[in-house]
Amino acid sequence: MKTLRLSDDANGIKIAAEIIKSGGVVAIPTETVYGLAANAYDEKAVNKIFIAKGRPQDNPLIVHTCNLGMTREIVEDFSEDAEKLAQNFWPGPLTIILKRSEKIPSSVSAGLDTVAVRMPSNEVARKLIEVSGLPLAAPSANTSGSPSPTSADHVLKDLDGKIDAIIISDDCTVGVESTVVTLAVSPYRILRPGFVTFEEIAEILPETVVDKAVLQELKNDEKAASPGMKYKHYSPKAEVYLVEGEKEAFRDFVNQKENSVAICFEEDLDNLKIKAISYGGANDTKKQARTIFGVLRKVDEMGIKTVYVHAPKKEGIGLAVYNRLIRAAAFKVISL
Ligand code: TXA
Ligand code: MG
Repeated sequence: MKTLRLSDDANGIKIAAEIIKSGGVVAIPTETVYGLAANAYDEKAVNKIFIAKGRPQDNPLIVHTCNLGMTREIVEDFSEDAEKLAQNFWPGPLTIILKRSEKIPSSVSAGLDTVAVRMPSNEVARKLIEVSGLPLAAPSANTSGSPSPTSADHVLKDLDGKIDAIIISDDCTVGVESTVVTLAVSPYRILRPGFVTFEEIAEILPETVVDKAVLQELKNDEKAASPGMKYKHYSPKAEVYLVEGEKEAFRDFVNQKENSVAICFEEDLDNLKIKAISYGGANDTKKQARTIFGVLRKVDEMGIKTVYVHAPKKEGIGLAVYNRLIRAAAFKVISL
């Protein structure tokens, strides 16, 4: 099929809404990453998302809404604690998991009795939901397994010809996918770290914990709380190693390597003899988040075989970046 390029103005959004209402799939900008959207009430339309991405059927989708009324329609009970999170972090990069209402087809949630819901802050996404009047099921708009798309260009590289349309808009400002927190278990649990940090959530709901799969590989017999966590993820074709250590140790380590590239901090650049790409300052976790997926894609375009990434710190937004990188590295971590 031919993938229609739409503008991100009122006219483009109107056409996108018509495509959505008639059961099509459209790639849309959000503040986190580009999403591949379809009418969440339409099982057939949702199925097209799984096919276009090559996504395993047992990996559930996030449903995007633009107000609390619409949100209440898709969950069984929007609890008081959910309300607290919404007040503090919506619209924005936080996804909340609650019991699913029967209105949402079970395939959206891959058969689970819960549903993931998020109210994005990106204006184009919000207007599209408003104009179509529908909640939108949308995973990241990449081929399953490849780095998430933070620009329209990334989406087209993966999905051109496989989706009905794309809204061409600005690059994503956050750069990593939303924080996922489940309120459907006790204690509440962060399943995927993101721009809204564990520390911020724990301030409002102190009984929240971080799922161990955020930083550790699950054993074969362990069940993932979030099915997405069990898949190989964000993986460029290059072999990636995550390297933990101070500036000097990192320099000495990578400078011995041949035919490799370093993905490093701004501060590392001066000291490295091998080819190096910065993904932000050591303490600038916002920039690291915004840049990392683009850098991983670039490494593949350069045809590089082996990559050593200087590991970010594991707190705040750094935890989100670390979580994506350890998956890109298939859990290969070198501690210096
Ligand atoms: O920022 C984002 O969240 C982006 C934009 C487009 O909104 N979307 C996104 O979707 O990252 P996706 O499908 O790539 O990631 C959704 C994650 C997966 O790891 C999935 O397993 C988990 O959320 N998830 C969705 N529904 C769930 C549920 N009911 N229970 C547990 N995990 C769930
Ligand atoms: Mg994804």
